[in-house]
Amino acid sequence: MTASSSSAVQRLVSFLREDLGQQGRIPLHAPTFGRREKDYVADCIDSTYVSSVGDYVVKFENEVARRSGCAFGVATMNGTAAIHALLHTLGVGRGDLVICPALTFVATVNAVLYTGAQPVFLDSDPDTLGLSLSEVERFLQTCEQRADGVWYEGQRVRAALPVHIFGHVIDVVRLSEICAAYGVAVVEDAAESLGASRDGRQAGSLSVAAALSFNGNKVVTTGGGGAIVTNDEALAVRLKHLTTTARAKQGWTFFHDEMGFNYRMPNLNAALGFAQMEQLDDFICAKRRLADRYEALFQGCANVQFVKEAAGVRSNYWLQAIMLPDLTARNEALESLHAEGIEARPCWTLMVDLPYLKDSRRFGNLTVARDIESRLVNIPSSPSLMTPSV
Ligand SMILES: Cc1ncc(COP(=O)(O)O)c(C=O)c1O
Repeated sequence: MTASSSSAVQRLVSFLREDLGQQGRIPLHAPTFGRREKDYVADCIDSTYVSSVGDYVVKFENEVARRSGCAFGVATMNGTAAIHALLHTLGVGRGDLVICPALTFVATVNAVLYTGAQPVFLDSDPDTLGLSLSEVERFLQTCEQRADGVWYEGQRVRAALPVHIFGHVIDVVRLSEICAAYGVAVVEDAAESLGASRDGRQAGSLSVAAALSFNGNKVVTTGGGGAIVTNDEALAVRLKHLTTTARAKQGWTFFHDEMGFNYRMPNLNAALGFAQMEQLDDFICAKRRLADRYEALFQGCANVQFVKEAAGVRSNYWLQAIMLPDLTARNEALESLHAEGIEARPCWTLMVDLPYLKDSRRFGNLTVARDIESRLVNIPSSPSLMTPSV
């Protein structure tokens, strides 16, 4: 085993087992549930409104919007559906191109494909791990300007879909300025960044609209769920309509005025999520304290870097991460941590290396994304690791 991976693993094991007193298998990210979740879910069951209508959906939508710095929220059954509905509603469709980071979770890209559009993959920024703004600018400069927008190799570039990787918020305000000059819309995949901010502005409020995820592994969970947040009322109304089967409000009749989606979040899930939202600050506080501890732990550990928030960013540290010197050290660390009962994982396989995306369009050589992919390891990140006593 290389010296760097062995030293990183030893430090991590002794920190988790001895300093934090964690016994048994340590998951990468486990949700924290208490009395409140049980009370709200029980209340929801007692009301009999467990399905697609109910007060908890409205309460949850309002709270998610508020905590994202937005006026409106539309809950969906998962984050992938939220991205799909959002792109569809903005008119992204067959033949269009959407700028995506090559390094992201596959759902970002699948949602683009569901609309009939295709991704064009760009490189990442080493400081934020997200889409590189300079690469977006370079890409748009090479596009052909036409009366109706910019085109790349015969396809119109309709939107950019940046992702705040692991809660590290990218500069969407600057990205939007760059894209606006070319008539390209920007929407955020904020699935991983609830409660994070940049220059005092919440992730999710930095563009036209954003999609969030409340999957079981996220900072706040509804079991499975998602949401779209926006400050655009007309967009929110349209999204609510389309994600709830486009049923027109005509008394008790079943009249659907266009093809909608059944992307509704059940009230039962919203009840769980509403209880979780009330603890968002506690969860983020614990995760930020854990980040401080990890940063101190790896300081002075040769060739191991803890991934810190960039200047101006207040990350939610959804998943904590370290960078090892190379692929060999990364693989060794993953093997050893798993052997110790500690769940760690590599970053996602680059989208362009997935078999069904291998012929997708890409721009530039994706060197930074490849480097991150080969060296990054996510390490245990549950807020429950930081009890008030540690
Ligand atoms: C970056 C990113 N986009 C989209 C999603 C999709 O969310 P969901 O799993 O709720 O569909 C996730 C999380 O799973 C994600 O991490």
